[in-house]
Amino acid sequence: GAPVEVNISKIAIGQMIRAEYRGKPVYVVRRSQDIIDNLGGHEDQLRDPASAEEQQPEYAKNQYRSINPEYLVAEGVCTHLGCAPTYQKGNFSEQVEGVDYGFFCPCHGSKFDMAGRVFAGVPAPLNLVVPEHSFPSAGTLMIG
Ligand code: FES
Repeated sequence: GAPVEVNISKIAIGQMIRAEYRGKPVYVVRRSQDIIDNLGGHEDQLRDPASAEEQQPEYAKNQYRSINPEYLVAEGVCTHLGCAPTYQKGNFSEQVEGVDYGFFCPCHGSKFDMAGRVFAGVPAPLNLVVPEHSFPSAGTLMIG
């Protein structure tokens, strides 16, 4: 499919918007410093903290799973059976002790952190897929 251009200039800090790429929803979150800080410290609760299973491009193979730490770009498709996880903003600790932000899949309870990394002990086998992406200018995200 052709790359999709997304205007990210109006995303508030901490806000998520939905885009679409190749018929799939893509979540784009502008991560606050709080959210970025929340990416550390729970690695031992994750199934694949280093994303060794290749669910992202090579340049996103870092703790942010992004080319730009400020933005998470991930398919909004649970890796269990494909439901849409919901963004849990500041209330995720009801699901995961000590983690304030993340994604919760309402279908069978899978949980992902703000890098789309899956927590252990849930049905989803893999981290959320990070599609190819780039930032051609300050207010523009290119998916694909
Ligand atoms: Fe998400 Fe089953 S589809 S937990």
